[in-house]
Amino acid sequence: MTQTDTPIEFGAETLPDPSGRVTPYRDPIALVGALLEHIDAGTTDLGPRVGRVPVAHYTDPARMAAELDLLRRTPVAFCPSAAVREAGSYVARESAGVPLLVVRGKDGVVRAFRNACRHRGTAIAEGSGCAHSFVCPFHGWVYGLDGSLSHAPDAYGFEGIDLATRALTPVACLEQGGLVFVQQEGEPRFDLVADVPGLTDDQVVVERERIPVEGNWKVLVEGFLEGYHIRQTHRSTFFPMGYDNLTVVEHAGRHSRVVFPFRRIESLRDTPPVEWHLGRALTIVDQIFPNAVIARLTAHSAFVAIEPVSQTRTILDITKVAIPEPDGTIADAVHRDIEFVENGLLEDRAMAEAVQRGMQGRIEDVVFGRFESALTHFHDGLAAELGS
Ligand code: FES
Ligand SMILES: [Fe+2]
Repeated sequence: MTQTDTPIEFGAETLPDPSGRVTPYRDPIALVGALLEHIDAGTTDLGPRVGRVPVAHYTDPARMAAELDLLRRTPVAFCPSAAVREAGSYVARESAGVPLLVVRGKDGVVRAFRNACRHRGTAIAEGSGCAHSFVCPFHGWVYGLDGSLSHAPDAYGFEGIDLATRALTPVACLEQGGLVFVQQEGEPRFDLVADVPGLTDDQVVVERERIPVEGNWKVLVEGFLEGYHIRQTHRSTFFPMGYDNLTVVEHAGRHSRVVFPFRRIESLRDTPPVEWHLGRALTIVDQIFPNAVIARLTAHSAFVAIEPVSQTRTILDITKVAIPEPDGTIADAVHRDIEFVENGLLEDRAMAEAVQRGMQGRIEDVVFGRFESALTHFHDGLAAELGS
């Protein structure tokens, strides 16, 4: 299927993908059909084989260094476009251990830079916000939204240095389908994310949070990609609303989509597709290889960048977006939705930390069942990129 930014035309026969894009994944009617078939048969999607990964891949600092290298030479999803909606709005955070700054210019173009002053390296921005320019907190060099150095106090002291060449160092950047992608090193390979489902223009940022977790980043990615743990881990949160070990799993290149139905999906059997509210019937998790996911929930979507800090420590950088009410406010239903998901995510984080602690127990490998096939696909992709 070809990819385009144009939303799908829809009528009685077809419904648009919740990302608002044409995606390589099956359309909503085929998706709901597949889920209902699994419900009726008591089955789930199975990959071609079980997976097996050495525990050293989660604990070895050398492996971590190789993965960070990979993340720097791979296009990665950095933040939603909604987080940099206005000219001057910016997001500053580390990506693969390198401080980056993403900012929308006065010309409407989103750019990425290394977040390091060209005087002595100080980070010139923190967190997110909106600025006319960036003033280095150390000695006051001033940078424009396009990264150019516009002022250096007492410039006469920098004899022989052409300050015009001391602009912020640019990083390859692409805004596409409601997401901002960056690639720090190497020839840009944004074609690898051309088909990635994104977010829609009408979504705004509801909240951002950064959560440190004592676990390898891959364990955190894995937690989003299988439904085998729903009954045991989410016994009183997600399980009463959903099903255990029942997912539809699809891949597009190295990326995956995993779909989890709610029990409410049953009501779609008797509802014409034009009246479907897919968000009430299922949760779609889009993994953007390697380290980002979009969880499309009932009343909001969460963009999660899973940022490795060390082999045993990860930051979840989460941006929650939703479509506002006509008067610009955020409906209570969105806040309730966020709260509902929050409790389940706490359970996921506790499990990720328990996995990591257990891995110090000198076990040899972990195995993934055929219904955990998105995990196998993820590790196959990493192995192919790393050559190991
Ligand atoms: S380090 Fe930025 S002005 Fe000195
Ligand atoms: Fe979970």
